[in-house]
Amino acid sequence: MVSIIVAVADNGVIGDKNALLWHISEDMRFFRRTTSGHPVIMGRKTYDSLGRPLPNRTNVVISRTVKDIEGCTVVGSLEEAIALFPAEEEIFVIGGAQIYALALERADRFYLTRVHHCYEGDTSFPEWDQDEWQLISKESFKQGEKFPYPFSFELYQRKA
Ligand SMILES: NC(=O)c1ccc[n+]([C@@H]2O[C@H](COP(=O)([O-])OP(=O)(O)OC[C@H]3O[C@@H](n4cnc5c(N)ncnc54)[C@H](OP(=O)(O)O)[C@@H]3O)[C@@H](O)[C@H]2O)c1
Repeated sequence: MVSIIVAVADNGVIGDKNALLWHISEDMRFFRRTTSGHPVIMGRKTYDSLGRPLPNRTNVVISRTVKDIEGCTVVGSLEEAIALFPAEEEIFVIGGAQIYALALERADRFYLTRVHHCYEGDTSFPEWDQDEWQLISKESFKQGEKFPYPFSFELYQRKA
């Protein structure tokens, strides 16, 4: 099973200059809790922004140019990445925009953190059709421990 996990600002922005634009501890914890023990698939630029493999997860990096990254499996396409794991395993596509665009039509689940603020950034989440997805759960917060704006965790399942 393929899942997408992402945090998106109200204006669609997800990053700038190959970095995140916000720090929401609750979202970091949610990401860690949700993806730990599962494979994570990412684009080479997102790997560069992390700078190391994520612990307790099999890290798969998609690249046309790079062949080897220590501690990661490097593949040349999303299909190759998905084929590494049994179909019943939940695998998480963790970005960035280029890889989300490839994964949207393949994904069964969509973990969306909505960050209720607008940011200026050079990278946005691709267009997606909310009609194709059923909202399964939603948890909203007025602000974080150290984050001043509202945000919510939404989980969608692709409609049959
Ligand atoms: N808010 C969030 O939840 C979130 C999550 C993740 C990332 N981000 C942000 O997103 C930004 C990075 O996203 P991005 O779209 O620039 O880059 P990306 O999707 O992380 O990586 C792009 C790279 O993936 C490889 N690639 C893309 N399409 C491919 C294909 N069809 N076949 C093989 N390889 C392919 C290429 O690597 P090569 O150049 O090596 O060939 C390409 O340069 C950063 O700002 C990051 O902080 C935000």
